[in-house]
Amino acid sequence: MKIGILDSGVGGFSVLQEIHTLLPQTPIHYVADSSWCPYGNKPGEEIRDRVTRISDYLLEAGAEILVIACNSATIHAVGSLRATYPIPIVGMEPAVKPAAEVTRSGVIGVLATEASIAGEKFHQLVNTHASGVRVITRPCPRFVELVEQGITDGPEAELAVDEAVAPLLQAGADVLVLGCTHYPFLRSTIRSRVPETTELIDTGPAVARRVASLLENAPDLSIETSGIHIETTGPQEQLDLLLPKLLPNLTATTSQVRF
Ligand code: DGL
Repeated sequence: MKIGILDSGVGGFSVLQEIHTLLPQTPIHYVADSSWCPYGNKPGEEIRDRVTRISDYLLEAGAEILVIACNSATIHAVGSLRATYPIPIVGMEPAVKPAAEVTRSGVIGVLATEASIAGEKFHQLVNTHASGVRVITRPCPRFVELVEQGITDGPEAELAVDEAVAPLLQAGADVLVLGCTHYPFLRSTIRSRVPETTELIDTGPAVARRVASLLENAPDLSIETSGIHIETTGPQEQLDLLLPKLLPNLTATTSQVRF
């Protein structure tokens, strides 16, 4: 079965990597919507319309499972996508539930986009799974800019991380949720700037396990050959520069697509 993956840009590569590790033979078609990045400062309806167009395209191109490798897009669009398409759709939301389960201080910090934090689905997530826990949210648009430029460490990344996490740590957070698929690329930098006891949680590995479980019982009717194809709505040269920086061990073909 062919897996279609989309994100506002290259952040979803963190999810692509997890999926490819579990399912190395499975063909993957990824669309990075870099010309429209970031999603995080856009209204929910606009995100939904854009994501629907990209999903239409991935389905027409033969995707049999769709992975919305973007928390902002999931929060605003997964409901309508599931109502529209006849294939399994795997989305991702900030890992509020596991964070609420492991916190000892009773304070969790959720790093996520403004669009995610503003979404009704996010509020439901907090109300359902984190009652009794203090949830402090923090949008980090700078993280997305850095990762889209391939900057994941060094002074600029450290400054951005320090600014984002300082108020959360001061408030007593002992768990930080990496609630945007761009943020795991800054994981090592974040790790080096917070106390050793601070837990960092992201949902990429859980999403990959969910995709693998969907494939377990599926008959392999695909006529596609295996391989990874990555398309960008932005400049292809930029994608070709970023890919080896962010996923140095991945072999993939690339092209540009316009919407
Ligand atoms: N990677 C996305 C997410 O998981 C969105 C980042 C952005 O475009 O603002 O929310």
